Amino acid sequence: MTETCFLEGRGDLSEWRDAARRFLLSGIEPTAIDWRLSSEERELFGDRAKLPQKESPHPTVATSGAAKVAVPSAFLRLAEAVICHSDPGRFALLYRILFRLKRDLHLLDVKSDADIVAVDRMHKAVRRDCHKMTAFVRFKEMQFSVGVMDRRRFFAWFEPDHFIVDRVAPFFQRRFTDMDWIIATPRGSASWDGQTLMTSTEPAEKLDISDETDELWRTHYASIFNPARLKVRMMMAEMPKKYWKNLPEAELIPGLIAGAEAKLLDMGQRQSSEPLPFHHRLQKMAAHASAGPTALPGTMDALRQEAKHCSRCDLHCRATQTVFGEGPVDASIMIVGEQPGDQEDLAGRPFMGPAGRVLEDALSLAGFNRRELYVTNAVKHFKYEPRGKRRIHQRPNEGEVQQCRWWLTREITVVKPRLIVALGATALFSLTDRKDRLADIRGRPIVMDDTRTLFVTAHPSYVLRVQDKDRRADELAQFRRDISRIGRLAT
Ligand code: URA
Repeated sequence: MTETCFLEGRGDLSEWRDAARRFLLSGIEPTAIDWRLSSEERELFGDRAKLPQKESPHPTVATSGAAKVAVPSAFLRLAEAVICHSDPGRFALLYRILFRLKRDLHLLDVKSDADIVAVDRMHKAVRRDCHKMTAFVRFKEMQFSVGVMDRRRFFAWFEPDHFIVDRVAPFFQRRFTDMDWIIATPRGSASWDGQTLMTSTEPAEKLDISDETDELWRTHYASIFNPARLKVRMMMAEMPKKYWKNLPEAELIPGLIAGAEAKLLDMGQRQSSEPLPFHHRLQKMAAHASAGPTALPGTMDALRQEAKHCSRCDLHCRATQTVFGEGPVDASIMIVGEQPGDQEDLAGRPFMGPAGRVLEDALSLAGFNRRELYVTNAVKHFKYEPRGKRRIHQRPNEGEVQQCRWWLTREITVVKPRLIVALGATALFSLTDRKDRLADIRGRPIVMDDTRTLFVTAHPSYVLRVQDKDRRADELAQFRRDISRIGRLAT
């Protein structure tokens, strides 16, 4: 015989726990219980629905309030989260696991078990929903309403997938403790007045209160948007489209993505920014930054530490820091660029700006993750000319390249790459002392010695600087074709 148990099912663990405890103490098998949502029943039958009382889910079940059921605390924590999931199957699933735990206390550790797979998936979905709520709630000030002690009052509308308001409300209480606020959602609401955090599981109605804070969000979002770092797939995973309708800045996203290439090209052509007003302080910090314990001599870590204090030429005087190579020390492919640019100088890592983006895209089209390769430069300090408030990139001269070759040679000795890819003439000169016209040797593998091949292609900044749109598209395609060959050349 099947027993029916009605629950409100709005993320409240206690109503399920009380019922589950009674069922468990009476030894009722999971298959003998039909867990139902009262709200669905009401929707179907309206007032005619005759629902048993929550306190007495089934008349045949023992209701010994004092009786205790021992369960692992990990299960309680899991149940607390999973009960917030919106899948009506969660009650049965949790009860099945609870029932099985009686016989197998370690069931939760059996990650291949179908019930555990299902419950872990629900747990993950709830955690993700909580995370999204903390990231995507946008408060708007309620203009004509002032709270206790003149506190400012704010309202936010959010649409979670699950019944998580209760779980997430304390986060907002801690974060926005100085203002009064209400967060309303179709799955419950929370409010804070400086004294009391209140939550309700009743569905709320959406209020439309767009105001000038929307414009603020848009301005902020547009100003932090960096086209050189744009990764559309990752961005869409982080900020899925279903959240867009309640995010004021979301309407900018399609335009920013569409304009990203043009902005990137523009950045590439300028390749400069204002030096930070506290630049000299950064410089000092970078020079004194501790690299952890002293590295073993001859290792890459030792080289990197040593290079921090490099003063082999004058370029170190104005650059923020040494930008050393990065990547696995046993990489089979080494990419050599010219010198760090404006963004690399500030970040302390090679190829972080627009040229880096062109390189990374070409690598990923060729099936590589940049992190599999060792990426470095012929010259390790940014050379620039201050013009007004901007730092304009300058090509390093032969002497500077020769001085810095000291580092590049050592990087090659440690990494021992099978293939070295020279991006542009400066890298070629540093690696070979040759000054060939790039067009004459580009794309033709050059044997350096028994173990090493050199492959020369254009520098991605060159591609970005081509003014004519069609020619630039051709150059980009050629660059990507070149890069697509490096995997085969490295084997
Ligand atoms: N150009 C380079 O050659 N190297 C960098 O790291 C960045 C731009």
